[in-house]
Amino acid sequence: MTENSDRTVKIKVEDLTLIFGKRKKEALAMLEKGASKEEILKKTKCTVGINKASFEVYEGEVFVVMGLSGSGKSTLIRCLNRLNEPTAGKVFFKDHDITREGNKELMKTRRYEMSMVFQKFGLLPHKTILENAAFGLELRGEPREEREKKARQALETVGLKGYEEQLPAAMSGGMQQRVGLARALANDSEVLLMDEAFSALDPLIKSDMQDELLQIQEKLQKTIVFITHDLDEAIKLGDRIVIMKDGVIEQIGTAEEILTNPASEYVEAFTEKVDRKTIITAETLMFRKPTLLQLKKDGPMQAIRKMRTISVDVLPVEDEKRVFMGYVWLKDVLKLVDRKETSLQSVIRSEVPSVYRHYTVEEMLPLTSNHNYPLAVVDEESKRLLGIVTQTSLIIEATRYEREEIKELIEKANDI
Ligand SMILES: Nc1ncnc2c1ncn2[C@@H]1O[C@H](COP(=O)(O)OP(=O)(O)OP(=O)(O)O)[C@@H](O)[C@H]1O
Ligand SMILES: [Mg+2]
Repeated sequence: MTENSDRTVKIKVEDLTLIFGKRKKEALAMLEKGASKEEILKKTKCTVGINKASFEVYEGEVFVVMGLSGSGKSTLIRCLNRLNEPTAGKVFFKDHDITREGNKELMKTRRYEMSMVFQKFGLLPHKTILENAAFGLELRGEPREEREKKARQALETVGLKGYEEQLPAAMSGGMQQRVGLARALANDSEVLLMDEAFSALDPLIKSDMQDELLQIQEKLQKTIVFITHDLDEAIKLGDRIVIMKDGVIEQIGTAEEILTNPASEYVEAFTEKVDRKTIITAETLMFRKPTLLQLKKDGPMQAIRKMRTISVDVLPVEDEKRVFMGYVWLKDVLKLVDRKETSLQSVIRSEVPSVYRHYTVEEMLPLTSNHNYPLAVVDEESKRLLGIVTQTSLIIEATRYEREEIKELIEKANDI
């Protein structure tokens, strides 16, 4: 397996291109020269499904593929197990190149290594729920007793214990989807490919299924490629999200990366309706080099000087190990000067809230409602001060100004 920094790469896709139609070579040549999907369609009657996609999926992550209808999501996921034959490029699973596998190897990959969960459940109507859940194992030729044992366990995992002998027709859509998931889990393959697996479910059941998948994932740590056109679903489930348009990958990143730094207008349009409060964290919002006081070095006069320079009446204080201690207020410092004291120690107010990097705007807002000083962001382990989040930046995030306005205002706030 290849390593990418500290993560194990499970699937690696390199310059993957898929063209539908007969005149593939001609279309590929046009694509190389930079022709658009429309031009290629017009000239060659070929459709560009995927256009030079490259990405890596890490072990144990939920990798979500998003995009409008026709953007190439299904085509992409079907290239991973070669249900669609790539026209150019490579797909690696661990370290073997799937695009070069012969039929036998490919069959093995599909049966043992990557399980697919389909949108329309893919259940066989005349088989019982148990037989359906065991179907992948039956294809592998596992003995009945063995496969039924695994299938029962998988059905229990998805909350369908007791329904083993029913037929699919007797089950609701949500339950049928669970059977589809159980079938993939029974296979116990490392990778799950889920194409709009929850899209046909009504909203409440969909939400339940998402929770269930997250719970299962916490236990099993599968590598999951999950397709959806629903951004809320992508954010809820995805460790990382890739956004596709016309067969091209527009952006890959965490929800927060995509929201704070959209790569294109298309991506931005996708993210417009998202509730940023629940996604943007202290890590993104914090100002990393705040003016602060060091207890050992800075006395009252220096504190006053620093406060004057940036026109504030309160500053954070850290000790010699750079551990955050609290805040010092100007009015208290003035009293120290009166009393001719030289240390700030006695006026540090330590009973102030601080936050960790991963705190969201929603979590931070209530902590600032009663005061007029910034929130200290401290490292969870060392308790060192990493930066500060100003009230202004929190309020702007919460009220969702235009991005450019936000940037300007934050910069101004940080200048003060
Ligand atoms: N078998 C096929 N033959 C020809 N063109 C195809 C075929 N399958 C897909 N396409 C075309 O490839 C492009 C990508 O389709 P794909 O089904 O991958 O999109 P999608 O993102 O999954 O869309 P949806 O959200 O509707 O499922 C589209 O332009 C589609 O018309
Ligand atoms: Mg699709």
